[in-house]
Amino acid sequence: MMPATLSTVAYVGATILFILSLGGLSNPESSRRGNLYGMVGMAIAVLATVFGPNVTTAGLPWILGAMVIGAAIGLFAARFVKMTQMPELVALMHSLVGLAAVLIGYANYIDPAATGHLQGAEKTNHEIEIYIGVLIGAVTFSGSVIAFGKLSGKIGGAPLLLPARHWLNLTGLLAVLWFAREFVHATSMQQGMTPLIVMTVIALLFGIHMVMAIGGADMPVVVSMLNSYSGWAAAATGFLLGNDLLIVTGALVGSSGAILSYIMCKAMNRHFVSVIAGGFGTGGGAPASSGGATATAPAGEVVPILAAETAELLREAKNVIIVPGYGMAVAQAQHTVYEITKHLREKGVNVRFGIHPVAGRMPGHMNVLLAEARVPYDIVMEMDEINEDFPDTDVAMVIGANDIVNPAAQDDPASPIAGMPVLEVWKAKTSIVMKRSMASGYAGVDNPLFYKDNNRMLFGDAKKMLDEVLAALKA
Ligand code: TAP
Repeated sequence: MMPATLSTVAYVGATILFILSLGGLSNPESSRRGNLYGMVGMAIAVLATVFGPNVTTAGLPWILGAMVIGAAIGLFAARFVKMTQMPELVALMHSLVGLAAVLIGYANYIDPAATGHLQGAEKTNHEIEIYIGVLIGAVTFSGSVIAFGKLSGKIGGAPLLLPARHWLNLTGLLAVLWFAREFVHATSMQQGMTPLIVMTVIALLFGIHMVMAIGGADMPVVVSMLNSYSGWAAAATGFLLGNDLLIVTGALVGSSGAILSYIMCKAMNRHFVSVIAGGFGTGGGAPASSGGATATAPAGEVVPILAAETAELLREAKNVIIVPGYGMAVAQAQHTVYEITKHLREKGVNVRFGIHPVAGRMPGHMNVLLAEARVPYDIVMEMDEINEDFPDTDVAMVIGANDIVNPAAQDDPASPIAGMPVLEVWKAKTSIVMKRSMASGYAGVDNPLFYKDNNRMLFGDAKKMLDEVLAALKA
């Protein structure tokens, strides 16, 4: 077994690596390095904990057995879960962090070795830690399970709005505070168990209610918010177990998740509080795995275009902006996108990419796909960097994107996505939208872009159509 000092040094090293990892992940160019730091940091953290002073030799086989099972499930998920299913997998993993926090809280309360010797203020502090850990863990667990259900299409995307739901939440909160008092004042473990169990049930119901009330279009924020909760649940568990590394790691995940939620709210022009209060997208956003293909009645005439005509327009263009969306991920068209970009750039066309912060189904989704296809980072621009350039653009090519290029966000105050910043592709000389049908996107709203005079629709699977465009360009 490792001596305590060595374990502390390992924890400090892992903490530094986690901070470097987050720093690296903030930029596509350094993200691989960031990932590596995270992996090494986590390996050190796990080894230092498993072989650290708090694990007895008798407990070791159990831990190693659990690690083998966990690693096998993780490997399976990494190999077989599709990129488009990532958000729901992440939601499921958050639920496990929440469940772990609940179970550790209960185990710690029941275990006489953990609590039996504590007296006075020390005992109260410990009980508050247990109560908060179980509370955050239970909300994270049930909220994440519902988020998984919504993202995978097992539960409908429309928000469930119970009458007087804010009052229900407030009553729940007051009850949780009341039972906290009962729990701390309990004179025996048996007496404390009742308030703890009642609070757990309330927290579970609150988690379900909170996420059920959130519309499909707000789900990206919910996933990052639950990510943040899972971090705070881990930090609370760290306090319980007296494990400094878990406290630091939990706080890092909790705060970075909160910052990400804030950034995403800004990108969607939403207030964090109104997202949590729920009710947005009452029309019902389609769940991610369904590809957002809710049928809305077309509200005008569209002008279709052929792949060969698209190639012609691209060949004649000086400036091209490509806007990728969820459909590019579904079709796995990023490699053909790269081939087309390479070909056009060799012919002197200025090709750039415009990336919306919530394009696809997870933060950075498009950046990951384009990096995988080796698209140079310097031509991949964020929305704010490129939005002003559309009026000087000959062709704006929208590949499997919909909500993020919807002008109704700017023009129609009644639209469910009103106020969400969008990529203004309609200001280009010609915009070409590549998708399979007239189906709406994730938010389930119609897109007036399709009916504009300077817009053309290239109908079909993105990969198939882009292959045809590439063939025509090379012909
Ligand atoms: P969407 O608005 O969902 O539009 C994607 C479009 O791609 C659909 O209209 C679909 O139309 C088309 N498509 C699907 N499969 C295709 C294929 N194989 N080939 C060609 N087209 C295909 O996507 P977006 O524009 O990327 O916007 C993202 C939306 O997702 C936003 O509403 C955002 O709030 C939400 N969201 C984002 C995240 C994050 S964090 N990025 C997480 C969850 C939700 P057809 O069916 O007609 O082909």
